[in-house]
Amino acid sequence: MRSVIDIVDLSVEEINGLLSTAKDIIKHPKKYSKKCKGKKIATLFFEPSTRTRLSFEAAMIELGGSAIGFSSPSSSSASKGESISDTAKVVSKYADIIAMRHYHEGAPLVASLNGDIPVINAGDGGHCHPTQTLADLLTISREKGSIDNLTVGFCGDLKYGRTVHSLIGALARYKNVKIVLISPKELAIPSYVKEDVLDKYNMEYIETANLEEALPTLDVLYMTRIQAERFTDKAEYERLKDSYVLTREKLNKAKEDTIVLHPLPRVNEISVDVDDDKRACYFEQVENGKFMRMALILMLLDIAKKDKSKYKIDDSKIVYNKFKCKNPVCICQTEQELKGMAKDCDGVWRCVYCDKNL
Ligand code: CP
Repeated sequence: MRSVIDIVDLSVEEINGLLSTAKDIIKHPKKYSKKCKGKKIATLFFEPSTRTRLSFEAAMIELGGSAIGFSSPSSSSASKGESISDTAKVVSKYADIIAMRHYHEGAPLVASLNGDIPVINAGDGGHCHPTQTLADLLTISREKGSIDNLTVGFCGDLKYGRTVHSLIGALARYKNVKIVLISPKELAIPSYVKEDVLDKYNMEYIETANLEEALPTLDVLYMTRIQAERFTDKAEYERLKDSYVLTREKLNKAKEDTIVLHPLPRVNEISVDVDDDKRACYFEQVENGKFMRMALILMLLDIAKKDKSKYKIDDSKIVYNKFKCKNPVCICQTEQELKGMAKDCDGVWRCVYCDKNL
């Protein structure tokens, strides 16, 4: 059984295969319209969403299947204290595949280890959002013709921006991609992304706080929202919330063929006068998300047909109960009876669920 919890669960060959399938779906939608007849996706959303939940549901419906689920924990038995493990075991009896979003980092991993059907992480806290990355990659591939040899700038909340962490994890495995990290120092990229991805893959990257200086060098500008809901200090959010606002005037400093992406929702970081600029691709990105989720559902259900064994993590570098994770939003703080798991990342011990240093 395969689940997709982190973008590194997919090899580059698999990502390229998903890109090809998505492009074929765009060209020949009818060919795919009955591929999932009789199949159900369960969308279990413990945190708000517009794009991810609706695009998973639209994806399954366009494949001939159907969708069940909930859009808030208050309308599920989580509100009575049901665990993620039990929820996954129960939903496995009703559906063929789960897409789960949760405010606790590592919750989709716990679901995948306990249910009997594939689980797709639809965003866990500030940790990962692998299917947004698939949407981003299809947009880059369609707009730029290739993912190799690009300079990609990430701007805004690089600390809590899970879409940024996941996209860097994918770009690291393409050829000659350079990264420009644009943020205030309080919202800089977490150290585990630097160590596990940027350093490990020897990526060329720079960090700066100056968007306007970086703009002329970029092929792709990936704007992000400052994530109000993840701040413990609301005064800090108020101070940082308008750190970057991309206006049409500022965009004039970019190259003619730079593309502007944003996972959305936007609050104030891209002014609406940018929307008509041909370089603005964030609404195309929304639609591409549906095509990539269709391709991913097809891939995972096909694998599940042949391999019915429970999803497992590679435990060759894992120890149990050696350390206690201190991340207050890690699933191991709330899930009953969860074994603390630590993984050895080149001498640094990290929590298996949330990837934070222990
Ligand atoms: N990009 C994204 O995850 O959007 P939603 O929060 O609306 O799903």
